[in-house]
Amino acid sequence: MDIKNKINRKVSVAPMMDCTDRHDRFFMRLMSKNVMLYSEMVATKSAIHGDRKKILSFSEEEKPLALQVGGSDKKELAEVSKIAEDMGYDEININLGCPSKKVQKNKFGACLMKEPDLVGECINSMVNSCKIPVTAKTRIGFDQTEDFEYLNSFLNQIKMAGCNTIMLHARKAILKGLSPKQNLTIPKLNYQMVYDIKKENPNLEIIINGGITKIEEIKNHLVHCDGVMIGRLIYQNPFFLVEIEKNIFNNKKNPTREEVVKQLLEYLEKEVKIGTKVNHIMRHTVGLYHGQIGSKDWKRYLSNNMMARDSDFQKSKHIMTIVQNNEKANQVIV
Ligand SMILES: Cc1cc2nc3c(=O)[nH]c(=O)nc-3n(C[C@H](O)[C@H](O)[C@H](O)COP(=O)(O)O)c2cc1C
Repeated sequence: MDIKNKINRKVSVAPMMDCTDRHDRFFMRLMSKNVMLYSEMVATKSAIHGDRKKILSFSEEEKPLALQVGGSDKKELAEVSKIAEDMGYDEININLGCPSKKVQKNKFGACLMKEPDLVGECINSMVNSCKIPVTAKTRIGFDQTEDFEYLNSFLNQIKMAGCNTIMLHARKAILKGLSPKQNLTIPKLNYQMVYDIKKENPNLEIIINGGITKIEEIKNHLVHCDGVMIGRLIYQNPFFLVEIEKNIFNNKKNPTREEVVKQLLEYLEKEVKIGTKVNHIMRHTVGLYHGQIGSKDWKRYLSNNMMARDSDFQKSKHIMTIVQNNEKANQVIV
């Protein structure tokens, strides 16, 4: 089978700066083996000239894993694609959807939607420099442009360049006047536009993204699209990954929160020995008890013991007491 078809993108966790780092991805993998994971966006120049071990390294457990890159220099994008392949990433994804000012200044992200020819050249040079799939994450429009014909022709240019998988955030980007955070809420979601794109391009793999919060919504999107990509919900409520395993992947053997914490502690112990700070790992677990009894106790415990820059690993020894109390309290309710 063509390697490009091997990746299961039915459900992916969206790339999120300051969130989906290697520790968060390891934590997520304890709850889901089947979702596809994406790194935070890495600028081409950082990947090429920065501390590669620090910026790009990952552990085997995180796979399948895509590196998301930001850039618009063909040579740099080609170089990073090759680096990603050599390091063992399963996919390289180009960011064509971020509207932040800094990203625009460096000419990558959503502002590239205005330059389909340049995007085509960039993707083509990526495709020609590696054998892993090159995918693109973009939005349905920008500023005043929310137009099916424009989007369709933009995506066709991407396809002609050799990219067959597109993550489509179902809201446009406003490039001037809105903060990145406002750009995730103010422009209206338009799922129909994404469905129409899939209908018009049955050979393109279309992954829909934006505002997905329920299993029923995932199921409904999967009727129209090839996959869904979920961001904020998973970061706020990571144990929702177990719901996804149960209800979307039909996986009947899933861990409890207690088992997840036990495994994470083993990882924590190993990582602390090689110099990782306790808070760099535990900060991703704040939402583990989202919507559960004991959620406040969990957050209080983390903030009192494990969120400071110099938090001591020894403090984690008491964590299982909180976990077991929560487990009991939630079982009584059921
Ligand atoms: C904190 C945060 C950081 C983000 N960083 C990135 C990023 O690095 N690259 C990217 O393509 N999108 C980024 N996004 C956008 C998400 O990938 C996703 O498209 C967006 O949150 C909509 O999906 P959701 O409604 O499921 O959260 C970020 C979003 C958030 C909330």
